[in-house]
Amino acid sequence: MLQERIPDLAKYVEPDRVRREVYTDPEIFELEMQRIHERVWIYCGHESQVPKAGDYYTVQIGRQPLLMVRGSDGKINVLYNRCPHRGNMMCGDRSGNTGEFFRCSYHAWTFKHDGKLRSIPMMESGYAGTRYGKDNPDCSMKKAARVENYRGFVFASLAADGPSLKEFLGKAIVAFDDMCDRAPKGEVEVVPNCFRVIQHSNWKIFLENQLDALHPSVVHQSTGRAAHDIEKKIENKTGKAPLSYHMLSAFATVTIDKWDNFQTLNYPYGHCILTGYMGLRPTDPDTQAYDKIMIKAYGKKRFEEIVAVNIHHVLIYPGLSVQSPLQQLRAVRPLGVDRTLTEIWHFRLKGAPEPIYRRSLAYYNLVNSPATLINADDLENFWKCHQGLASDGGDWVSFGRHFGHDIEKNGAVETAPNCGTSEAPMRGQMKAWAEYMRG
Ligand code: FES
Ligand SMILES: [Fe+2]
Repeated sequence: MLQERIPDLAKYVEPDRVRREVYTDPEIFELEMQRIHERVWIYCGHESQVPKAGDYYTVQIGRQPLLMVRGSDGKINVLYNRCPHRGNMMCGDRSGNTGEFFRCSYHAWTFKHDGKLRSIPMMESGYAGTRYGKDNPDCSMKKAARVENYRGFVFASLAADGPSLKEFLGKAIVAFDDMCDRAPKGEVEVVPNCFRVIQHSNWKIFLENQLDALHPSVVHQSTGRAAHDIEKKIENKTGKAPLSYHMLSAFATVTIDKWDNFQTLNYPYGHCILTGYMGLRPTDPDTQAYDKIMIKAYGKKRFEEIVAVNIHHVLIYPGLSVQSPLQQLRAVRPLGVDRTLTEIWHFRLKGAPEPIYRRSLAYYNLVNSPATLINADDLENFWKCHQGLASDGGDWVSFGRHFGHDIEKNGAVETAPNCGTSEAPMRGQMKAWAEYMRG
């Protein structure tokens, strides 16, 4: 019916602007879930969230409740969180251990970790001569159509066909390589819980903000200034302020013109990368100790390559925002046209000294957590944007900054020199959106 009402969805997206309904129309939202979120590769979680056989973690993909479960064979399965008998949700808790098998709380059908039906109470007498039983696949828990694991990060796609995970990620795969390579043991492990924030705004508003290099010096300036004042005071008193202050004060010292010196790289499927900003090569004793362990693990040459990767942010459209040098990611779970859940996770570098983890934790708490003013300032703007877009005050959202200066190279779009605050990432995301929505 949406197709009848809106015969050509592509008309909603022009190269440098987008109709406001794209953010506010509940039917467009339903179609987005169908054509984007329930088709493409979506991040489920990290394998270390389910270390033992029977461990499960629930996850929402589009409108679908799923669960990620570790089998006794060590394999991770992604299943719909639904009993095939009468539809009961299989796991009501967010996470846990299901034991040797799933047992539905309603009529005690049981299922193996890969979702296959294991038993039904008095199956022979109850179901003799019916179509129900172990041979009928409709009696097993349904699996996600495709599941892939890249360096411990588990993704699922609810569509049987489409690009492989690696093809889909393309250059954005660097998010996971950069994170894992920085670990002396080459892998990360999740810190067992995350912050969950419900934003009262459309999911795309959050994603568009992630590589919006202009907003930090405006939105986060007041927080940055306050941190800068304290940082200076501590420095004057003790000779050196903790690095954590710098994480905040940078929002005041990196001004708009400086942000223009950075660069965004925009790829097919709407993924994009912001380079620069957090080179993060301090020379304090903690970093020196870490460097030593890394050099021992990788050799000097490889170590230099690893720490030279100059990435601030990788956005994997439509559901993941990764800050790899600080081992954090935010997973985006749309709940409704004007409600979006974000899960904010961070990770430990396996084999790295504790202070390096503390640094990641400080960034997590100071910049990304719901407790920080940085996050609060963003959230307020997201909500206000959504309110404005729901009004009749105008029909279009503009993405015109540095429009016409994009450099197309090998299927990707690079922003030209001194165009770091370009709205190219939003243009790239909406281009991908329009392609997906065409079906
Ligand atoms: S609904 Fe699950 S066993 Fe009946
Ligand atoms: Fe922000």
